[in-house]
Amino acid sequence: MTIQRACCNGEPFFIYCSDDEKQRKTLNSMNQPRKVRIAIQKSGRLNEDSIRLLKECGIEFENGMNKLKSSAINFPMEVLFLRDDDIPKYVEQGVADIGIVGENVLVESSAAVQTIEKLGFGKCRLSIAVPKDKNYSGVKDLEGTRIATTYSIVLQKFLDEKGIKAEIQPISGSVEIAPGIGLADSICDIVSSGSTLFSNGLKEVETVMYSQAVLIAGKCDAEAMRIVDRLLFRMRAVRKANHNKYVLLNAPNEKLEKICSLIPGMKSPTILPLAEAGWSSVHSVIEEDKFWEIIENLRDEGAQGILVVPIEKMVI
Ligand code: PRP
Ligand code: ZN
Repeated sequence: MTIQRACCNGEPFFIYCSDDEKQRKTLNSMNQPRKVRIAIQKSGRLNEDSIRLLKECGIEFENGMNKLKSSAINFPMEVLFLRDDDIPKYVEQGVADIGIVGENVLVESSAAVQTIEKLGFGKCRLSIAVPKDKNYSGVKDLEGTRIATTYSIVLQKFLDEKGIKAEIQPISGSVEIAPGIGLADSICDIVSSGSTLFSNGLKEVETVMYSQAVLIAGKCDAEAMRIVDRLLFRMRAVRKANHNKYVLLNAPNEKLEKICSLIPGMKSPTILPLAEAGWSSVHSVIEEDKFWEIIENLRDEGAQGILVVPIEKMVI
């Protein structure tokens, strides 16, 4: 007799099966389709963008998204809303199959999970900051000082690499007030817009690591992996679309070859004749980061009436 964990209406429970039954009674054998559980940040920098990404993947949720748990109505998925620091551990333990978390939190957790996709949002850096009126000439100024942080492991590694001996003050929140109340000489914390440092009279002096949101996975069974693959396919299409624009322009026929070489698109541009003789309409896709450079070159080559439109999804 063995005990197996199972789900019913989203609630975990345990089923007892003899060993020969074990293979049969998998999670989905109880007329309950397997759902993938994804853990996302309950509140904080990654919360809104994580929800937006799932919605852009066409996943709709019942009862809004403001609870601890929510089920998708058109995709086999459940969302758990957790503190970001807890997400790697819960994914490692299988409470959630996958999670969206900052690399900073992931590295600090040392959890045995794998990063399956960088998501391109929540970009930030883990930095050391000192009071703004303090002279700072380099990393050696940290020698013998006290640094408050919630990222002790990552910070210690950084200090070791630099050969600096400093006293790490591990704290669990509101790190930015530590110098002001005399708890530490500096802090090591996440900087995104920089407004938290600014409003606490601190300046950034060292970058410890760069971070962004990533999708992580624990030991998923084959069925969960199939669902994760479907999700990944959608996430990649959404990201690709966000990084590209659809461009339409009018071009004199004698310049078509040159203009098409500037906007090769996914396969090749679409060319349609205009009602006005000697002109064509050209449609293609361009990458966001090369946007202005390409548009300027197109204008230089005689393109007119350039329209640029956002793309909702892009499947290649
Ligand atoms: C980080 C950090 C700051 C804030 C910095 O918190 O602790 O509070 O972001 O951002 P800013 O430079 O734009 O002001 P995070 O969202 O990671 O949440 P947590 O510290 O509660 O985990
Ligand atoms: Zn956190």
